[in-house]
Amino acid sequence: MSLRAPEDQDIVIIGGTGDLARRKLLPALYNLHLEGLLPAQGKIIGYARTGRSDDEFRADAADAVNEFSRTGLDEKAWANFAERLTFISAEQDGFGGVRRSCEQSARLVYLATPPSSFPATVRALAEQDLVEGTRLVVEKPFGEDLASAKALDTALHEVFEESQIFRIDHYLGKETVQNILVFRFGNSIFERVWNRDAIDHVQITVAESIGIEGRGAFYEEVGALRDIIQNHVFQVLSLLTMEPPSSFDPEAIRNDKVKLFHAIQPLDPSGVVRGQYTSGRIGDEHVPGYLEETGVSADSSTETFVALKLHIDNWRWAGVPFFLRTGKHLPRRATEVLISFRDIPVRFFEGTGVQQLPANHLTISIQPDEEITFAFLAKVPGPEIKVKPVRMNFSYGDAFMAQPAPAYERLLHEAMDGDHTLFARGDGVERAWTIVQPVLDAMPPVLPYPAGSWGPPEADELIAPRTWHLR
Ligand code: BG6
Repeated sequence: MSLRAPEDQDIVIIGGTGDLARRKLLPALYNLHLEGLLPAQGKIIGYARTGRSDDEFRADAADAVNEFSRTGLDEKAWANFAERLTFISAEQDGFGGVRRSCEQSARLVYLATPPSSFPATVRALAEQDLVEGTRLVVEKPFGEDLASAKALDTALHEVFEESQIFRIDHYLGKETVQNILVFRFGNSIFERVWNRDAIDHVQITVAESIGIEGRGAFYEEVGALRDIIQNHVFQVLSLLTMEPPSSFDPEAIRNDKVKLFHAIQPLDPSGVVRGQYTSGRIGDEHVPGYLEETGVSADSSTETFVALKLHIDNWRWAGVPFFLRTGKHLPRRATEVLISFRDIPVRFFEGTGVQQLPANHLTISIQPDEEITFAFLAKVPGPEIKVKPVRMNFSYGDAFMAQPAPAYERLLHEAMDGDHTLFARGDGVERAWTIVQPVLDAMPPVLPYPAGSWGPPEADELIAPRTWHLR
């Protein structure tokens, strides 16, 4: 992880006019340019089916930056950036046009297209002699189940070495997610209690107040388990629970992550609750049910919510249940990890009138709040023994007075720099599919929940007698 301009290279965005390019990639590249973190030399080549001139592509990119960049568009900086932008039309020039346009011996090729097009794209890159010197970035979903993930990986590996492939999971680009490793392994006090002896259970929630945002056709094929749990939540889980790697070396970290994935037991469908939102209210707004969304079939059984229980069968975690949950149109946006420590013997307080003793817990708030909080009990001042839960809090904003860079900026820079630390490795992705496959094979029924609620009541039964921290 370095903050220097990467070696000279061209950047090729396959799907250069799509949503991902407009919303994330072009604004991220522009901000890297502002920070001096783009290669000194190299073009940015947009490649897409529809024809456009270079100037039209530049105008589209300017609109995208204006709309989605965290910084406004500065005319002078933009002019320098725009000089790099070039457009190649798939229909007119094909991949031969990409080859002719590339100027550098190194390049980053970003596949911002649906995975079904990946095999043909990598073959075309090979035909044009664009393999050596290429770093290939692929977007999730990496397959839709174990078999298709394996097939996709085989297609990629027919052309590229694993060391050339960068699988993006944008959660790994979030500062608060990266901090999990520093928090665990940079502070001796926490690592000592990070195990089954001290921890009762762990919760990870990725709650979204948004719905499917017009992506009905995409979402119908995917659902919450594949969209969020199998990748984003599993990545967070692995950083939380992996063994200490021997160093911060990318492969050392990835080896221990994959080892952890192998200790996670394949899911038992009876420990999985699937839900689908019906119409309801988010804040003041009335929102339609999932089945009324455009692109969604009237009898769809795709889940927009999932809660599940899993186990990690190793010396550190055996017997500790992990509860994972995600959903669309929940009451608010919040991604949070809760580490709940073991209960204390209540007998200690016998005769004092103290009855309820919430266990110590640590919350790692990933977004939109970026903070870590430790909740413990304190004596209420006064002659009697009365206790009250209190909190110690660390907030990124207060401590560092800085806004972390968006995940895509960080990840694009790391990929151009050839650093794999923040990218998922093929064997880990495959194991993650093995873990969810039993549920894909025997999907539990999908249960309704009103938009604006915390999901079907069955999700509360899943975690009982414990309760969800966010509710
Ligand atoms: C994407 C999913 O990977 O992550 C979306 O496809 C989801 O459905 C998004 O909304 C959430 O990302 P974030 O960074 O807003 O938590």
